[in-house]
Amino acid sequence: MKTDVKLEDIVSLAKRRGFIYQGSEVYGGLSGTWDYGPLGVALKRNIMNLWWSKFVDARDDIYGVDAAILMNQKVWQASGHVDTFTDPLVECSNCKGRFRADKLDDANKCPTCGKTGTFGEAKQFNMMFKTNVGPVADEGSVSYLRPETAQGIFTNYKNVVDSFYPDLPFGIAQTGKAFRNEISPRDFVFRSREFEQMEIEYFVHPDKWEEAFEHWMTQCKEWFAALGLPTESVHELEVPAEDRAHYSKRTVDFEFDYPIGREELMGLAYRTDFDLKNIHDHSGKSMEYRVKGSDEKFIPHVIEPSFGVERALMAVLVSAYREDEQNGEKRVFLALPEHLAPVRFAVSPLLKNKPELVEKARAVYQALSKQFPGRVMWDDNGNIGKRYRRQDEIGTPKCVVIDFQTLEDDTVTVRHRDTTDQVRVEAGGIV
Ligand code: GAP
Repeated sequence: MKTDVKLEDIVSLAKRRGFIYQGSEVYGGLSGTWDYGPLGVALKRNIMNLWWSKFVDARDDIYGVDAAILMNQKVWQASGHVDTFTDPLVECSNCKGRFRADKLDDANKCPTCGKTGTFGEAKQFNMMFKTNVGPVADEGSVSYLRPETAQGIFTNYKNVVDSFYPDLPFGIAQTGKAFRNEISPRDFVFRSREFEQMEIEYFVHPDKWEEAFEHWMTQCKEWFAALGLPTESVHELEVPAEDRAHYSKRTVDFEFDYPIGREELMGLAYRTDFDLKNIHDHSGKSMEYRVKGSDEKFIPHVIEPSFGVERALMAVLVSAYREDEQNGEKRVFLALPEHLAPVRFAVSPLLKNKPELVEKARAVYQALSKQFPGRVMWDDNGNIGKRYRRQDEIGTPKCVVIDFQTLEDDTVTVRHRDTTDQVRVEAGGIV
């Protein structure tokens, strides 16, 4: 891995090559929002699909759900988010800039106007986006854009138990959007106001939480390997009690060496029975689990691995970013794992004005597309050198070129991204 990757190199490549654009850019942007372009959405989906196949499809103890983003306001009262989901906010009396007090480099100096001693006392600012459901904007119609996908899982715990009656331990998984009105969104998609999470609430017997925690530590590490993150770039942080979320009795943050420094990639938390107990008390509905064939009843405890899609995607891009020199020229390429690369094969006729080459190239393109739907790109723009460079930058592992020799012996050139080696293979044996 290139160890001195700069954030601006990633941002610039992401924009130039159609991965990620600033949200509402055409109108000057909207801070903390990002739009995914054709390659970004493909990469993001590859990451999310990989997550779902590993943690839901490949296991028989995890159930998937897709809950509504808007939920009854009681959800957020019971969960503690209305009272405690806050960040400390300070305002500069000189320039009126607002900042997160705990993220200032110098607690006394305004990073915008440079004045010192201009901050008043920090106020607690609730990060949930508030809205009203229906035409009447009163207290009864208040709702929030969910700040975590987790609550849509807890509120469906009883539904899943009633429908499937699973043995403990079992988990419920959900992926989807989450919204936080971050005071200072920053560092590209790392801290956004709208982002995606991939979360599992894993329900266990209260005595068994420690072994489940260890199980999920291992699962998280397997996940980082599947993303192609170098093990030396991922670090475990045992979060001290005073820094843990209000619901957690143990949290391990997995941090990654981003270009902005070592920062949180994802978190693993022991949420005890905090959420189900709150729902049990506030809704009047029992959240107790009855062990099959026995009278034992209890509210399960929960281990929660909580993954952020944007931070995973950013770690994947940083890990894959490479620069080298080819024929005296600087080359940028993304050494993405093949299973994550938005485009697995680019297919080109050597010359686009030779119909016989184009026809054969189209046949190869169609055959590969059948095998890898949506993962094969037709590329006949510019000369072959330019095509290779473009495909390198978007992380395409293999470029397939159809030339005059193909018409004679049905072989094609396959050019490999990382080494730039070119080999001749039978057109039917590219994969
Ligand atoms: N349900 C637990 C929960 O939401 P969290 O640590 O607040 O825990 C989990 O968030 C993950 O969501 C983080 O580790 C991070 O990957 C991602 N995340 C949180 N806030 C984010 C933001 N503003 N922008 C991008 N990702 C964010």
